[in-house]
Amino acid sequence: MRKKIVAGNWKMNNDLNESINLISAIKKGINENNTNVDVIICPPFTSLETAYALIKNTTIKLGAQNMYYEKNGAYTGEISAGMLLSVGCEFVILGHSERRTIFGETDELINKKIKSAIQAGLKPIFCIGETLEQRERGEAFEVVDDQLKKGLYQVSNEDIKNIIIAYEPVWAIGTGKNATPEQAQEIHNYIRKQISAMYDSLTAEKLIIQYGGSVKPENSKQLMSMPDIDGALVGGACLKADSFISIINSAV
Ligand code: PGA
Repeated sequence: MRKKIVAGNWKMNNDLNESINLISAIKKGINENNTNVDVIICPPFTSLETAYALIKNTTIKLGAQNMYYEKNGAYTGEISAGMLLSVGCEFVILGHSERRTIFGETDELINKKIKSAIQAGLKPIFCIGETLEQRERGEAFEVVDDQLKKGLYQVSNEDIKNIIIAYEPVWAIGTGKNATPEQAQEIHNYIRKQISAMYDSLTAEKLIIQYGGSVKPENSKQLMSMPDIDGALVGGACLKADSFISIINSAV
C-alpha cells in the first residue's frame, strides 16, 4: 500500500511573520499520531530556515518551490540544492506549470534540475500536466508522456525511487475548477503505466503520484480515494491552516 502524501505549495505568499503564524496553526491542528499520511510544507525561500526550526520535532517535512541545477557560482538570484539541504529541506517542487509558463522553464532545464536535486540528496516533486487547449485537442496523454520522458531523461532506476510525481492539469491550477476524480485517475493510471514501461512494474507500483489543481476540503477525499491518486499538491487551500488540515485528514 502506498502512503498518502499531502504537500502545501505556498507559492509567493507569506512573509516571515505570516509563515510563523501559519506553521503554528498547522502544528496545533495536525494529528501527530496519524501515520497514514505524510505532510510537506513548501514555504518561500525566505521562510525556510525558520520553518525548519518550527517543525523539526514534528512529523511535518520541509520542501522548497524551486532551485537551480548548478552547485554554486555566478548565478545571481538563484539557489542550489545544497543550500536548500542546509536549511532543512528534504523536498523541492520542480517543473511547476507556473515556472514553465511564467518563467519559461523548458523540459530540458527541468531535467537538469531533477538530476541535480537527486544528486545532492533532495527529493523532487516533479509536476506535469496539460493545458486546457491541449486537453480539448485530445492531447493530454501525449503531453504528459512527453513531459515525463523529457523530465526523467537519464534518471536511473535507483533515482526514480526518490521522486514524487504531481499531475497538475494547468487548467485546474488556481481556477477553482478541479479535474474530476475520474479524469485525474485516468491520467494517474496512465502515468503509472508509462513509468512501468520506462522502469519496471515494481517501481511504478511504489511511485507516489499526487494530484494538484484546486484541491480543497470539499473535493480532496473523493480525489484521494481513487486507486492511483496518492495524495495532493495543494496551492490556495494550504494557506489557511484549517483547510489544509481538513485536506490532510481526508487522506486517511
Ligand atoms: P491550487 O494550486 O491548489 O491553488 O490550484 C496547486 C498548485 O499549483 O500546486
